[in-house]
Amino acid sequence: MKTGRIGIVVILCGVLLTARESLQAAKLVINADLGKAKISKNIYGHFSEHLGRCIYEGYWVGEDSEIPNTRGIRNDVVQALKKIKVPVLRWPGGCFADEYHWKDGIGPREQRPSMINTHWGGVTENNHFGTHEFLDLCEQIGCEPSICGNVGSGTVEELSDWVEYVTFDGKSPMADLRRENGRDEPWKVKYWGVGNENWGCGGNMRPEYYADLYRRFQTYVRKYSGNKPFKVACGAYADNLRWTEVLMEKVPVRMMQGLSLHYYCGSGEKSRSATKFGEVDWFAQLRRALRMDEHLRRHSVIMDKYDPKKKVALIVDEWGAWHNVEPGTNPAFLYQQNSLRDALVAGVTLNIFNRHCGRVKMANIAQTVNVLQAMILTDGPKMILTPTYHVFDMYKVHQDAKLLPADLECGEYKFEGDEIPALDVSASRDWSGKIHLSICNLNPNKPDKLSCEIRGAKVTGISGTVLTAPAINSHNTFDNPDVVKPKAFNDAMLKGNGFEATLPAKSVVVLEID
Ligand code: AHR
Repeated sequence: MKTGRIGIVVILCGVLLTARESLQAAKLVINADLGKAKISKNIYGHFSEHLGRCIYEGYWVGEDSEIPNTRGIRNDVVQALKKIKVPVLRWPGGCFADEYHWKDGIGPREQRPSMINTHWGGVTENNHFGTHEFLDLCEQIGCEPSICGNVGSGTVEELSDWVEYVTFDGKSPMADLRRENGRDEPWKVKYWGVGNENWGCGGNMRPEYYADLYRRFQTYVRKYSGNKPFKVACGAYADNLRWTEVLMEKVPVRMMQGLSLHYYCGSGEKSRSATKFGEVDWFAQLRRALRMDEHLRRHSVIMDKYDPKKKVALIVDEWGAWHNVEPGTNPAFLYQQNSLRDALVAGVTLNIFNRHCGRVKMANIAQTVNVLQAMILTDGPKMILTPTYHVFDMYKVHQDAKLLPADLECGEYKFEGDEIPALDVSASRDWSGKIHLSICNLNPNKPDKLSCEIRGAKVTGISGTVLTAPAINSHNTFDNPDVVKPKAFNDAMLKGNGFEATLPAKSVVVLEID
């Protein structure tokens, strides 16, 4: 009898707890028939600069290398980047762009002059990777090139010649020079940046001065042979709203198709190590990553004032986490490891870009291989994929899909008296009608239940992929390359016209709904 009563109490407690837990489940409503804006595939773009081991070793090993390569470009890296469908690649900088003289990087390689890479360690740049090699790389990857011109230390003539060299199909001094260098047909290069960080490493200019220079330089970025340039003006860093205000006020909308924005979300609070950090650093880093949303909102408000029809795109052409370099490596080479925390940074940032796709038309994570928040790390002939790579692989389903309105009500991830939302979501519907949801659980200590209702479409099936790992600082190494790797996700079940899922702590989940 006594045991019976205890049993009833235990069952009641169980029922109450279950009820409480299900009350606490996060709620998501997706309106599958209300999507309007397209998530430009270029939001999943990349940035590669002549910095450290990104270009040299990362891509370029030279034709005589024992590392398998095609015309000097390593095959393993190209294959990996093809898999994640890199849509666009920005080059040659960064700060390097404003001291790069492109004519030094054409013609027979052994005759190319060298230069000092003053920004990045004062190393000698031999110019073996130049315009032809970059455009060959883009062709091998199957992505669009985005070239950033030199305003800080270059001339209008130089930039104008570069455009002619690359895109003019008739007879002209630059097109003939291109032919002499082995390329008969012009390339199609749509995206042209007019300077980089010209408020800083690109010339320390005031926005008023740069706005005038931009107007002048962009005039000579000509449309040749049907190649209509999409011109990107140098934009602000993070919360420098004045730069955006002045550019929008002084440069007519018809003169710029894009205005850039850079924001790096730094590293941890107490530790700046990429792999040796605690929860305090995890929390601080993710909170800073979430600030991308605020930056986009603020700059968009200014852009809306001058450009209510959203003709000028916001181009976030540098973003990512910035940790201390790996011990024992050149501090100027910015070589950092990449952990599960970086995967969450990528996941929430890409969700934010998706949600702002009405204004944000391109973003380029810094910097693809061996530098900052890279997709790929190399060591001689060896190559590993980072947790960030896997997020880009999982999220590629959003490329060129329609953004769906997604209303999320979720709890908070609390840490030492502070809090951020525990979950972060974006949703899209692709051309075939499939719905994709990317969901980040930022809480490293607690799985989260999610109950989702899909309106405006009949739900018949669900499948998914999850990226998580044993620890917040789990990462892949050359000896252990698969510590952080996506797996099939089996914790989502159809319910009503939607589903219920349990999202593991510290995870990125992408669901496909038929
Ligand atoms: O990505 C590294 C550097 O960060 C870039 O060269 C510069 O544009 C930014 O400050």
